[in-house]
Amino acid sequence: MMMRNVHTRIVAIVALSIALAGCGGEDSTHPMSTLAPRSDLANWINGLFMEITAWDLLILAIVIVAFILAVFFFSTRVGEAGPPTAVSSDLTLEIAWTLGPALILLFISIPTVRLIFRSQPRGTRPNELPITVVAHQWWWEFHYDDGSGALTANELHIPADRPIQLKLVSNDVIHSFWVPRLGGKRDVVPGQVNEIHLIATVPGEYYGQCAEFCGESHANMRFRIFVDKPDDFASWEKEQAAPGAMPADATAAMRGARVFANSPCTTCHTINGVSKGYVGPDLTHIASRTTIAAGVLANDPKDLTEWIEHPDAMKPGARMPDFGLRGPELNDLVAYLESLK
Ligand code: CUA
Repeated sequence: MMMRNVHTRIVAIVALSIALAGCGGEDSTHPMSTLAPRSDLANWINGLFMEITAWDLLILAIVIVAFILAVFFFSTRVGEAGPPTAVSSDLTLEIAWTLGPALILLFISIPTVRLIFRSQPRGTRPNELPITVVAHQWWWEFHYDDGSGALTANELHIPADRPIQLKLVSNDVIHSFWVPRLGGKRDVVPGQVNEIHLIATVPGEYYGQCAEFCGESHANMRFRIFVDKPDDFASWEKEQAAPGAMPADATAAMRGARVFANSPCTTCHTINGVSKGYVGPDLTHIASRTTIAAGVLANDPKDLTEWIEHPDAMKPGARMPDFGLRGPELNDLVAYLESLK
């Protein structure tokens, strides 16, 4: 029976190792793995996790060896008379197994508390790029506070190797900002500004997800962070700050621009130079994004058409109503939106 317990533990350790190895995989197969960190913040957290896991494994190994030795040395031998004498209490042992775990917890808490303070520097760091992140039910808005005037939704671009300061605010309920490969979760609380400071180290595309239940479409409150090379970021930011493109005359996009201007869409969505709405994402450069509906759908004519027709079916609880746009009108509107690079 006891030997079976040992076997169960060994099997569990092997299974855990395999599972952890699986989580650590690269990029496309595990885009949300905290075990493949790509920022200073995520590296620190992963380092702490690995350090504590290593100590845990050492303790586990000691326990297993002690257990096996106890089984061999203290079990009743064939021919021995009766069970061993029962021991009702042992003060030394009691103190030892109370003090031991307390010391282990203290030992683990030192690097943990140190990292908590290290990850939340006071003030701003030199050359830091400040970005305000506004959480909405169920999408994300990003304002670049560096004087560029750039803003975007659901797809944040940041330059690699430069300190970033994310100021997290909520427009409604509590959300949580989480990009596993770039850092830990942080709650986004109404009436409060929480911050994340990080330096992304490797250009690429990183998946994010709201990590605090915030209503019907919590699971559909996704986002992406594109870590760009500094030059690419500079040109992206410049384009985002520019007014929306005006489509050429006598094109579907031009007809779509008129559909948009005369539709109720303008009360909720801003297109720089066309409308001012503050309920939904800014659409001035919507065509420059890879996804729509907070990372739930692809940004292509097919998905965009379905989204405008049936927002609630694609994303339960979505604030955007179906205004009954169909047929050529809808095709023109989609052509216009897809022209807004
Ligand atoms: Cu926002 Cu969950």
